This record gives sequence, structure tokens and C-alpha cells, in this order.
Amino acid sequence: MSKTRTLAITLLGAGLTFTVMPTIGTADINTLAEKCGECHGKDGNSSDPKVPNIAGYSVKYLRDTLENYRNGERPGLKFRKEDGSESDMVEIAKKLSEDDIKAIAEYYAGKTFKSHADEQKTDPELVARGKKVFKRKCKKCHADFGTDPEDDAGILGGQWMEYLRHQFEMFTSGEREMPKKMKKKFSKLKKDYEAIIHALGSK
Ligand code: HEC
Ligand code: HEC
Repeated sequence: MSKTRTLAITLLGAGLTFTVMPTIGTADINTLAEKCGECHGKDGNSSDPKVPNIAGYSVKYLRDTLENYRNGERPGLKFRKEDGSESDMVEIAKKLSEDDIKAIAEYYAGKTFKSHADEQKTDPELVARGKKVFKRKCKKCHADFGTDPEDDAGILGGQWMEYLRHQFEMFTSGEREMPKKMKKKFSKLKKDYEAIIHALGSK
């Protein structure tokens, strides 16, 4: 085969891959929110303990987080939907355009966060200890037990404990990066992880 012919075929191949590449594009916000809602709930309050609520988060945190997933800076947990198909946040974020990210962040920031405190079991002793430690080490950046979206640090109080536990594990292993000053406090927690998770889960 001649060199030019090979090149032509390669280019054609590249062109085809490009056109069939799946993108959500700048679809309208309802179509986009429907996709997210399959896992996070229609209003951003999830019914599965592995999937965090994202309602009421700040626009900045949502945007930064989606960028982090898209750039591969934060790993995403594989999650199986009701229809049996699997996906994760890295895969999902890679399909979003800048405009999509902006629009979806504003959409969920406008929804109301609903606490899961009544749906999960917490141990009163752990809750009491966790609250104390949290006030000492975490409150500065996570006001009102992490329920103030203005902190741009997610919403912790009332979040699913299983989700929080997974984030604690990823912070500890270094798979998910955390701010330097948080790392300092975090590395000295010793056995208080579970107590903090119970305290947050009860809020
Ligand atoms: C297949 C299920 C699924 C779909 C669809 C999905 N997510 Fe997620 N999302 C998850 C899971 C699971 C996590 C938690 C990952 C982990 O444990 O690290 C998550 C985490 C997040 C987080 C991080 C929250 C935090 O507290 O840091 C944000 C933000 C988010 N998703 C936004 C979205 C948006 C916006 C969409 C739609 C474009 C979407 N997700 C679609 C399953 C999904
Ligand atoms: C110096 C400020 C600071 C301190 C102190 C701090 N954090 Fe954070 N925390 C942040 C910021 C900023 C983020 C968002 C960072 C990101 O996602 O990259 C965050 C994120 C988190 C998240 C992830 C939220 C989510 O939705 O996924 C958890 C969990 C968390 N912090 C727990 C703690 C705990 C527990 C302590 C105390 C031991 C603590 N933090 C102390 C600033 C802080």
C-alpha cells in the first residue's frame, strides 16, 4: 500500500472516531439534570447512600469539583444504575462542556439540601465525641457542621455516612487531594474518623 493511501485511511479513521464521540454538548438544562438525577435524585437529594446529595451546594464547589473529575484529579466510584449500566463521575464529567458545567452547577445550587439524619443509624456516644473533635479541628472551614454552602467545601452535615466514609478513606490514602491546612488536622485524627462521620450523619 502506498504511503499516501495509508495516510488517507488513517485520517478517515480519525475523522470517524471524532464524529461518533459521545458528547452531551450544550443540551438544555432539563435533559442534563435528568441524567444526573438518575443517580443523585431529581432534586439533587440522593436515595442511595453511596451517592451524595448535591442540592444546595455552592456554585463554586460544584464547578470546581466537576472540573477536578474531568481533569482526572479526583477519582470517581463506579456506580451501577437501576437499569444495570455502570458509570462514574470521571466518565460523566468528561462528557460535559464548560457551559454544561456552569449551567448544572447553578441548577443544583438553587435546590434545597435535605438531611438524611432520620434515615441513618448513629451511635449517640460516637456522635458526642465526633462533635467535640469537629468543633476543635474542622469548624473553622466547615461552619455549622459543614452545612454552610458559603464555605465552598461541600455540605457535610446530614450527608450520607457511606459517602463520607468513602471520602475519608480516599483522603487518607491520598487518592483524593485535600487542602494543605485540612491535611494537617486530618492526619492527627487517629481513631476519631468514625466519630466524626456519626456526628455529621446525625445533623
Ligand atoms: C451513574 C451514577 C451517577 C450519575 C449519572 C451522576 N453522578 Fe455524580 N456522583 C455519583 C457518585 C457515586 C458520586 C460519589 C463518588 C465517590 O464516592 O467518590 C458522585 C459525586 C458527585 C459530586 C461530588 C459531590 C461532593 O460532595 O463532592 C458531584 C458534584 C456530582 N456527583 C455531580 C454530578 C452531576 C452534575 C451529574 C450530571 C451531569 C452527575 N453527578 C451524574 C454518581 C453519579
Ligand atoms: C483549612 C480549611 C479546612 C479545614 C481545617 C478542614 N477542611 Fe475539610 N475541606 C476544606 C475544603 C476547602 C474542602 C473542599 C476541597 C476539595 O474538594 O478539593 C474540604 C472538603 C472536605 C470534605 C469533602 C466534602 C465532599 O463533599 O466530598 C470532607 C469530608 C471534609 N472536608 C472533612 C473535614 C474534616 C473532618 C475536617 C477536620 C478534621 C476538615 N475537613 C478540616 C477545608 C478544610
